Amino acid sequence: MKNVAVVGSQWGDEGKGKIVDWLSDQADIVIRFQGGHNAGHTLVINGKVFKLRLLPSGIVREGKISILGNGVVIDPWALLEEIKEIKKQGINVNPENFMISESASLILPFHREMDEIREDAAKKKKIGTTRRGIGPCYEDKVGRRSIRVMDLRSESNLDIRLENVLLHHNAIRKGLKKKVYKKNDLKKELLKIAPYILKFAQPTWLKIDEFKKKKKKILFEGAQGILLDVDHGTYPYVTSSNTVPAMAATGSGCGLDTINYVLGITKAYTTRVGSGPFPTELTDETGKGLGKRGKEFGTVTARKRRCGWFDGVLVRQTIKIAGIHGIALTKLDVLDELDEIKMCIQYELNGKVIDYLPADSDDQFSVKPIYKTFPGWKTSTQGIRNMNELPAKAKVYVHALEDFVQAKISSISTSPEREDTILIEDPFTI
Ligand code: GDP
Ligand code: IMO
Ligand code: MG
Repeated sequence: MKNVAVVGSQWGDEGKGKIVDWLSDQADIVIRFQGGHNAGHTLVINGKVFKLRLLPSGIVREGKISILGNGVVIDPWALLEEIKEIKKQGINVNPENFMISESASLILPFHREMDEIREDAAKKKKIGTTRRGIGPCYEDKVGRRSIRVMDLRSESNLDIRLENVLLHHNAIRKGLKKKVYKKNDLKKELLKIAPYILKFAQPTWLKIDEFKKKKKKILFEGAQGILLDVDHGTYPYVTSSNTVPAMAATGSGCGLDTINYVLGITKAYTTRVGSGPFPTELTDETGKGLGKRGKEFGTVTARKRRCGWFDGVLVRQTIKIAGIHGIALTKLDVLDELDEIKMCIQYELNGKVIDYLPADSDDQFSVKPIYKTFPGWKTSTQGIRNMNELPAKAKVYVHALEDFVQAKISSISTSPEREDTILIEDPFTI
């Protein structure tokens, strides 16, 4: 019996939602452990589309338990809205199948506003955030002044916590000539929604321990991607949480040995939303073609995703940093029509050839990709569910990619549909 952590090995939107949904057939519990509603995970089940932001992708399967761990930042209004929307699609969300950690920090309206104020002021140096208040909320968490789910239980406690957090935020807001927040107004708003949030609140670490004792299978669902990790990503163009799988233990409150297998979801090319370095970016017709065939528009902000060739150097690096055991290769079908396909295998920086992405942001912007070129297969792979049916040239590309990144491909996804997936080795049983 193994528990599996799923993470994105690039800059997010690799298809984590599709793969978590597909794998959750075998899992009992699905846990989100970091990030917030900056994530956007699209699932397609028999033609029906589900767009999830905060809810774990396990929510759509009956009989599974979905958990938001302590490492997640929760906008309570956004969560209630998402629950309302998914219920309209016929999905059950109740305290039996959905739990949130009482220790998770809440995203409040001034976090979202601060995110926007900073982005608007940054002009050319914008991060290109999702403007959901993720960064400012994590800052307050580390600054020991956040309002947590449990604080909604007591008006007097909420009073003290709000006083503390507003001391900080109102001082900044005054300096920026923005309206200051009145503690009582905010308290009223929070107390209004408190019962709807609190009915899901639990000491989830304790629940997880009980599930472990009962030998339940756990699937940890990462959001974003390793290259957006605040320590290991393309800083400062990153999100504000650790996206590496080690965070699955911290962000849900279980031991490291709870995670037995790390699956890195890896797109057969590369995309990025927002600003920051992107060595293999294609701004030409080929890039546009990838965006069109791959329908590369953000689920959260509807922004166009930047597209480029597969960057083997970067994925090999994230595999090492994150401790990824195997990869699920997604969106192979998007490459179907191309005459040739390129894979970045090295960079050139100031006349020198290098084999990894340097940590310095200026260097990350300056590296030039060195490519290996593969012939395209020019035939449809869409919907293929068996390795033998893949065209020979597609197999060559897939195996070269696997060799280069030094991790086994455990599955290949060939369409957005849940079942259009080639299983090579089952992460839960190997
Ligand atoms: P996530 O953030 O990693 O969960 O990924 P998103 O859901 O934001 O973006 C991935 C997009 O690609 C979604 O629209 C999926 O429906 C779609 N998708 C996933 N796997 C495949 C695939 O193998 N082929 C194609 N064509 N689309 C896919
Ligand atoms: P999923 O889970 C792609 C990017 C934003 C921005 C940077 C910081 O769907 O893969 P933030 O709002 O987090 O402070 O923004 O991170 N970003 C994502 N890009 N997929 C995501 O999530 C992302 N979540 C954040 O575009 O560049
Ligand atoms: Mg996404």
